[in-house]
Amino acid sequence: MKKALIIGNWKMYITSTSEAKKFVSELKKKNRTLKHADVWIAPSYIYLFMVGDMLKKSSIRVGAQAVSAYTQGGHTAEVSAAMLTSTNTSFVLIGHSDRRAKGETNAIVHDQLLRAIEAKLTTVLCIGETVRDQADEYFEVITQQLHTALEEFPKQAIKKLIVAYEPVWAIGKASKDALNPQAVHEMQIFIRKVLTALVGRQSANTIPILYGGSVEPENAQALIAESGIAGFLVGHASVNLNQFCDIIAACKK
Ligand code: PGA
Repeated sequence: MKKALIIGNWKMYITSTSEAKKFVSELKKKNRTLKHADVWIAPSYIYLFMVGDMLKKSSIRVGAQAVSAYTQGGHTAEVSAAMLTSTNTSFVLIGHSDRRAKGETNAIVHDQLLRAIEAKLTTVLCIGETVRDQADEYFEVITQQLHTALEEFPKQAIKKLIVAYEPVWAIGKASKDALNPQAVHEMQIFIRKVLTALVGRQSANTIPILYGGSVEPENAQALIAESGIAGFLVGHASVNLNQFCDIIAACKK
């Protein structure tokens, strides 16, 4: 059975170089005893060089939280996929709801995805509905997000694609507010169905589907054991070393 994948999205929670350094050196030590899972972290841009350097010889992979839809030019404050590869960055989160909330549309997400793939980065495509309406329209939201993002996606790059399902309404809360394992399981099946229609069954079956949204040590084990997901995208609990390691430990299959 494949190892679970746990990605820590630091967002803007870690706010100093010394804090970032301390966290990474402790995680590196603890990770030696957590061999049953793959652990990746996504620090803020400003720490990518330092963290990438610290983890050069480690199995922990380093990624960015976002990437530009452009390759170069007059795009103040943006960072291109090629620029990311000049650090030890090997993956990138794309379409995170924090970014979508600031105006990144499905079309922009599509362009970012292609730029990242062109630069040979592994891509973690984040999707998720903002509300769960009575009429089940959120299934349509998910379908649309996947369809637009994956238009023109090169078939040979499927192995570089991971999908993270994060219902926006469940993000940044406590484990009791997260989606329950049964509902995650249902959505996991639905996403796989949409992916099958888009890229074919064989390819779709190889795409890891993660869950994110208030994953904490309290709900991690039930979620991984009962929902058929490949792992987690963790936000607030990923910057608390004990909590993050407890989540990783809970993913022992
Ligand atoms: P959360 O964030 O774990 O704090 O809910 C998850 C995410 O936004 O990636």
